[in-house]
Amino acid sequence: MTSDSAEGQAGVDFVLVLNGPNLNLLGTREPGVYGSTTLVEIVADLESMAGAADPPLRIEHVQSNHEGQLVDAIQTFGPTAAGIIINPAALTHYSIALRDALAAVGTATIEVHLSNIHAREQFRHHSVVAPVVLGQIAGLGPDGYRLALQHLIARRRLAREGTR
Ligand code: DQA
Repeated sequence: MTSDSAEGQAGVDFVLVLNGPNLNLLGTREPGVYGSTTLVEIVADLESMAGAADPPLRIEHVQSNHEGQLVDAIQTFGPTAAGIIINPAALTHYSIALRDALAAVGTATIEVHLSNIHAREQFRHHSVVAPVVLGQIAGLGPDGYRLALQHLIARRRLAREGTR
């Protein structure tokens, strides 16, 4: 599991970004399908967007090839996150454990896929997490993560204004 630690930054709002199996290989993994941008580049981009938000946000990023580690990350960071962006990768199509964890924490979550899963093999058309998330972005490459973060930042702004 790769995780950027939250230590020393308590009190700063954060968005939890989760990436599932094989997404650590982005850049070299089937570039015709997933593009040539690496996961490090995607996360760095999100970090600079989050840092430019007013007030700034932090990104807590976890990539894991193991379902249980992603469930642990949702349980640990999900309840206090301003939102969750998740690309569950292959787990999208069968992980009831991930779906249940997202439903349990109830934090606003956006599901992202680099490729258009609906235009690919039949087994990729169904997402078991889709019913428990706010929405799904598929087929827009790394822009999908940016758009998801943009939406979560806008929601946070509205929520803050509502409490003023
Ligand atoms: C993916 C699509 C999944 O079907 C696949 O298993 C992945 C990546 C995407 O980002 O397009 O690993 O989630």
